Amino acid sequence: MNDKRDSNSQSGTATASPTMNDSDFFDHIKRIEKKLDKTRALVKRHIAESPLSKDLIIPSHMVWRCEDYFVQAQSRVSVPGIPGMRCFFLQSCLRSLINVPGAVAECGVREGKSSLYLLYATNTERQFFLFDSFEGLSDPHPQNDTLPSAVDPQTGERIFAGNSEQVIQRFEPFTNVTVLPGWIPERFHVVSEEHFAFVHIDVDLYEPTRDSLEFFYPRLSKSGMIICDDYGSGAYPGARRAMDEFFADKAEMPIELPQGQAFIVKR
Ligand SMILES: C[S@@+](CC[C@H](N)C(=O)[O-])C[C@H]1O[C@@H](n2cnc3c(N)ncnc32)[C@H](O)[C@@H]1O
Repeated sequence: MNDKRDSNSQSGTATASPTMNDSDFFDHIKRIEKKLDKTRALVKRHIAESPLSKDLIIPSHMVWRCEDYFVQAQSRVSVPGIPGMRCFFLQSCLRSLINVPGAVAECGVREGKSSLYLLYATNTERQFFLFDSFEGLSDPHPQNDTLPSAVDPQTGERIFAGNSEQVIQRFEPFTNVTVLPGWIPERFHVVSEEHFAFVHIDVDLYEPTRDSLEFFYPRLSKSGMIICDDYGSGAYPGARRAMDEFFADKAEMPIELPQGQAFIVKR
């Protein structure tokens, strides 16, 4: 060690020197404690000023966590998936559409977490159509996505690859649900005669987001909603690009939420 720290410690300016007497030593400890207090105050201020504690996690404004439909879904759904806050927002939107006719579609189902929360959000008999490859993400678009590959280099599998049989089985108790495995937009033709009140797009990448918008927007009821899960994602900027491009010449403009989702309400 021949750096500055070493020479400081020899001179006794940064650490207690063996030549210090007791009173020097206690002064030295006091100086260190003062420095620590300053650091603690800085850390506290940083936490208090961080957008997370100020804008998102305010316990008095989190009564949504106690809504019975959310609590019930939490106790029934044990599969991995998007965070509870985003599931709650989906539930709340669907509940608000009580007077809007049409089915529910989800593009990007994975294990079914968000779909199950939606099913437990209301007791209306709306039809649900669930689209997913169940083989994971499709190949990223070279210009509009930043993900280098849909294949995880560690496992050699596509990111979010799943098991369609298991997911189909999971939804068997719901007579109003149709699961449609396949790459988007291959299976959309099955619902070409339907109209929709609520469409959840959670496919992470540019092309399937764009294809889902192109298909579902013309079939969306007036006052119906489209919600995009990945609009605020730094990892998947293609979803935002697809939304912004698609709505650039429409009457609606995506409304962005702090938890990363964005939505539109059809005019
Ligand atoms: C983030 S996950 C969906 C998460 C889900 N909504 C939840 O609640 O956990 C993204 C899903 O999109 C699917 N996906 C991505 N690109 C697709 C494509 N081109 N066609 C069909 N499915 C696709 C993947 O298989 C994956 O299950």
